[in-house]
Amino acid sequence: MQPQSAFGPGFVWGVATSAYQIEGAVSEDGRSPSIWDTFCRVPGAVDGGDTGDVACDHYHRWPEDVELMRRLGVDAYRFSVAWPRVIPDGAGEVNPRGLAFYDRLVDALLEAGIRPFATLYHWDLPQALQDRGGWPSRETALRFAEYAAAVAGALGDRVTDWTTLNEPLCSSWIGHLEGRMAPGWTDLTAAVRASCHLHLGHGLAVQAIRAAARSTPSIGIVNNLSTCEPATDSDEDRAATRRMDGHVNRWWLDPVLGRGYPEDMIEVYGVDLPLREGDLETIAAPLDYLGLNYYFRQIVADDPTGPAPYARQVPVPGAPVTGMDWEINADGLERLLLRLTREYGAERLYVTENGSAWPDTVGPDGTVDDPERTAYLEDHIAACARAARQGAPLAGYFAWSLLDNFEWAYGYDKRFGLVHVDYATQARTVKTSGHRYAALIRDHRRAP
Ligand code: NOJ
Repeated sequence: MQPQSAFGPGFVWGVATSAYQIEGAVSEDGRSPSIWDTFCRVPGAVDGGDTGDVACDHYHRWPEDVELMRRLGVDAYRFSVAWPRVIPDGAGEVNPRGLAFYDRLVDALLEAGIRPFATLYHWDLPQALQDRGGWPSRETALRFAEYAAAVAGALGDRVTDWTTLNEPLCSSWIGHLEGRMAPGWTDLTAAVRASCHLHLGHGLAVQAIRAAARSTPSIGIVNNLSTCEPATDSDEDRAATRRMDGHVNRWWLDPVLGRGYPEDMIEVYGVDLPLREGDLETIAAPLDYLGLNYYFRQIVADDPTGPAPYARQVPVPGAPVTGMDWEINADGLERLLLRLTREYGAERLYVTENGSAWPDTVGPDGTVDDPERTAYLEDHIAACARAARQGAPLAGYFAWSLLDNFEWAYGYDKRFGLVHVDYATQARTVKTSGHRYAALIRDHRRAP
């Protein structure tokens, strides 16, 4: 298989993580609690009562993790900066010890020849800001821009690749409507307000990064999108599929790309948008790339009595699924990349996350063999290659994840890493999939 031949010589092969999922050290060097520290303490919120208190102890073991990446031969590392480390109160004073951690990390990455891709928000809102209203409140968007300016001011001489938000859909819909993620609300009005303020924060942060960075930055937003297909040919299921597409795709793309919020969805939600004069222009700040996190497609049925958008994902009988019970469908990735290209006119795309969880174990010989993850990786990279051959301007692919880590409400049971983590000893073991990824990158370098 030579899927990589579709990609140009400058193609970026990377791995991704996020702060709360790997760092641990939640009370060190002035870090304040985030909404996830709080949520983890709600009985029953997280499987097994797991928390991010220690996670992969990356806060202390980062030199080892950078060395791991160097050995895998990746071009780039997508990580997130923890807002509660940098501005513990969410507003005002910057904490130099918090920033210093990312400063050291960035220097070490560059030293190892690895390009840092920094994400500003991967779900760990300072609890102090939640106490003042969180994302449903406009203030949070303004504070996010100040935080973005502080980080870009400190790292922007060395970091050129920035992401404002990771998966604002999850922060809004899963955090405020479904209640399965922090802050655990089930309130449609709050969820819609949160989505608009996340977008506003994004637009303001784009301006702040451009103003603060000392090199010419490349700035984007990362969305998790899914192809949606009707479960049956009925008019009801087709209409439900259109609503689901609005809910999971168009609501997240249209406003940031200057098309405003989809009218049909404003009607479905029936919530007044908390926008002021000029906000839509701010939200549509010009971007340098779009990031796509891809995990599964959605087969959709009408659900008139369910919550908005009155549509639900239904399982596909007999379809292969990962350890998350997510259907494996690499074609969906190809189709999304082409949709972003053709329908949205994207000029630069990154697959900023893609990966699968499996119940990996360390074998008696000390190796971790994960054929399913290896096949998933190969099949999805092949889908990227098909999209690139058909004209998708794909500039890079980031595997989720470098390490097994804290999988949010699923805790540590779901392992997404190319590298296995033994949480008792913090020993790292590169899995078969990690070795395969390294080989694929080497092959690409030899014959781009
Ligand atoms: C997307 C999220 O960005 C990441 O934090 C999460 O672990 C993966 N999906 C897998 O669910």
